[in-house]
Amino acid sequence: MSSLSRRSVLSLGAALGLASVAGAVPAWARSAAAGTSTATDPWWVWDDAVDRLVAALLDSGQVPAVNSAMRSWVNNSDPLPGGLPADLAAYLQQVNQLPSWADRTKLRLAADFNRRKDTYLFMLYGLGSGIMSTVIPREATAVYWSAGGANMKDRAAKTFTFGYDLSEVSAFEPTGQFVVTANKTRLVHAAVRHLLPRSPHWRAANEEQIPISNGDILVTFHSLGTFVHRKLLEWHVPMSAADEDAFLHMWQVAIHLLGVRDEFIPRTWAEADAQSAQVLTPILNPTPEGKELAKELLGLTAQVDLGVTRGFLNEFVRYVLSNEIGDWLELPRDYAAAALIRTGWPAYIAFREGLLPVMPAGFYLFDQFVRAIAMLFLNNGTSPTSTPITIPTANRPE
Ligand code: HEM
Repeated sequence: MSSLSRRSVLSLGAALGLASVAGAVPAWARSAAAGTSTATDPWWVWDDAVDRLVAALLDSGQVPAVNSAMRSWVNNSDPLPGGLPADLAAYLQQVNQLPSWADRTKLRLAADFNRRKDTYLFMLYGLGSGIMSTVIPREATAVYWSAGGANMKDRAAKTFTFGYDLSEVSAFEPTGQFVVTANKTRLVHAAVRHLLPRSPHWRAANEEQIPISNGDILVTFHSLGTFVHRKLLEWHVPMSAADEDAFLHMWQVAIHLLGVRDEFIPRTWAEADAQSAQVLTPILNPTPEGKELAKELLGLTAQVDLGVTRGFLNEFVRYVLSNEIGDWLELPRDYAAAALIRTGWPAYIAFREGLLPVMPAGFYLFDQFVRAIAMLFLNNGTSPTSTPITIPTANRPE
């Protein structure tokens, strides 16, 4: 964390005024979590059980065998693969399921919402959250100095797999894949916690020695779910209250599966917005690592025929995130494209959503752009056999 010490950041609980009810569980999860939680500061909570297991696997050289065994483990209904060490299998048996408070009706509505709004979601996750991750210093330096940082195309494809599996209509159903993908990601994060503290480069950029705390994961959640929800509201994309609630619930389940304790998970969008303002907005900052990652990510995006110029792409990122972030990332200005986006994008949404009777100028340009971004996402996040999430065994090569 470059500009702000982690210790000096208010804990999420305090940020929410929850300190006085430390230990309180979210109302929606009260029955499930009753008596099980000890409130702590999420910045000092990691994922102890799985961290210990994966550290031992790394130290004993068993990770490649585990990765091979896990290759065939894809669907939520798949039995755990054979060939896993007994303690890992026992652990996965416990966590490879939805929490008891998960509401399947809401999850189905969320899946339908994802389908109805997919074009905006691809755009916002890809050009918004994806690029925002490069100005979250702890995340950017972690990604850069981990093994995946050396091959951003592969890394982006794996991250797309997560987003794709989460957004799929059957994501949480037995035929879906998200529960398995989330558990594989949880194992990857555990490996990163063991490996990164051994990287002198990562240590030089971070005062704390263990990455990906519960607090860090919540920060990233705000750059994804909370950010996207806020943008949809800002862009006047029609959503029912039930849609909004279902979308939040989907993210609540997702971050639970990534190992965030229930008592830290925001209960409402208002709570999520408040947390985000406290723990995400103030820490956004450029780093040399993040700038390089952003350049690579935008370079990869620009390789696809988007039907627009690179200047347009840069300005769209500025429009979605802010000029301040655009300046940090040194995205060259294209004022004509900026003006077109400022008027054309709201009109495009309004027409698409049936709120504008006449097709606005530039409709097809935006439509082609949106479709190209969606295709990029879908092509990269397709078959889990082409981009399997695997546990890394080392950091970024020197
Ligand atoms: C790996 C998603 C939070 C750092 C991954 C992977 C996924 C993912 C899908 C596996 C893909 C791959 O191996 O590249 C998420 C989600 C998060 C989250 C959905 C929160 C909602 C974080 C945070 C950090 C982080 C907070 C750091 C501060 C990493 C790193 C890797 C990784 C370093 C491994 C990269 C590699 O070497 O391959 N994450 N992550 N993640 N994540 Fe996260």
